[in-house]
Amino acid sequence: MVNKKIKRLGILTGGGDCPGLNAVIRGVAKPAMNDYGLTIVGIEDGFEGFVEGKMREISRDDIAGIIGEGGTILGTSNKGDPFHYPTEGMNGIEIVDASARVLKHYKGWGLDALITIGGDGTMHISNKLSDLGMNIVGVPKTIDNDLDATDQTFGFDTALSIATEAIDRLHTTASAHHRVMVIEVMGRYAGWIALEAGLAGGADIILLPEIPFKWESVMRRVIERSTRGNRYSIVCIAEGAKAADEEVVIKETDVKRTDPIRFGGIGEHVGRRISQETGLETRTTILGHLQRGGSPTAFDRVLATRYGTKAVELAVKGEFGRMVSLRGLHVNSVAIKDAISKQRLVPEDGEIIRTARAVGTSFGDD
Ligand code: F6P
Repeated sequence: MVNKKIKRLGILTGGGDCPGLNAVIRGVAKPAMNDYGLTIVGIEDGFEGFVEGKMREISRDDIAGIIGEGGTILGTSNKGDPFHYPTEGMNGIEIVDASARVLKHYKGWGLDALITIGGDGTMHISNKLSDLGMNIVGVPKTIDNDLDATDQTFGFDTALSIATEAIDRLHTTASAHHRVMVIEVMGRYAGWIALEAGLAGGADIILLPEIPFKWESVMRRVIERSTRGNRYSIVCIAEGAKAADEEVVIKETDVKRTDPIRFGGIGEHVGRRISQETGLETRTTILGHLQRGGSPTAFDRVLATRYGTKAVELAVKGEFGRMVSLRGLHVNSVAIKDAISKQRLVPEDGEIIRTARAVGTSFGDD
């Protein structure tokens, strides 16, 4: 599409929600309205809403006081990939290409540009829509922190704080009852939440997708700890972690989702096996969506606002097909196609892993 001065700016939140989405929306809408006189068109329920034609114009009242609110005032969905769109067909759910419907709405609503706030899946879709001629600027969101082109996605810091507090709380009850406490945290294929919350919360064992674990190593550590000090252990497990000789544990696959795999269950699996093999009293906590709900931390509010204002700046300058990103202390941007080329996983021998090992943390691999 030919670049021109933009007047109508669309915005959507895609994929799973995370704390800070509203802070980005506000960070986009305030300068867009006040400094550039743009009309903000909010697309409801992510790409699913885009395909279905759900939108409303965003007013100043809509964005007042939302910086600290969790969720998203626009709604979101992880089931609406326009290039892989589930529809009710003669033989049940059929997957079709609905991208033409998105393009039709984009033009019909008079959009000059679109800001997409989302994770890996949203950026893949944004890249394909850019190729179809839409003027897109991406903003990286996800509690998983698994986008390689940015040092941090907003939402991660909040999830990390919640997971750390949960581990802190497990320490006192674990110590009182001399139990093994297993906690399963989110993160899909990346172990960032487990690694950093485990380190911050002083977990004894941290199990990650990037380091397949050995059962005998986990058992050895909990047995050893059950005989000294307060005789308890904390095991922090990423939902995507797996034993070296086993498959990853999943809850379900759902073809309607942008990523069909829904993780979950490794915590129970590990807890049960520890209890059976060692006889130690073991309890499992699945932190789940508590990691995504509620108010963002101050760090995430600031990062989200910086991302939002930068995204508008890029849109107004006509720098499309780019995603805002944090490198060191600076917010800048990268091409969306480069941003999606690689997932950011925990480096097996990275500095944080070495730090955790230095303070005695086991990764179940010795
Ligand atoms: O990608 C964010 C995330 O919270 C993952 O950590 C988790 O596996 C997934 O989304 C959960 O998705 P849903 O909300 O659909 O259960």
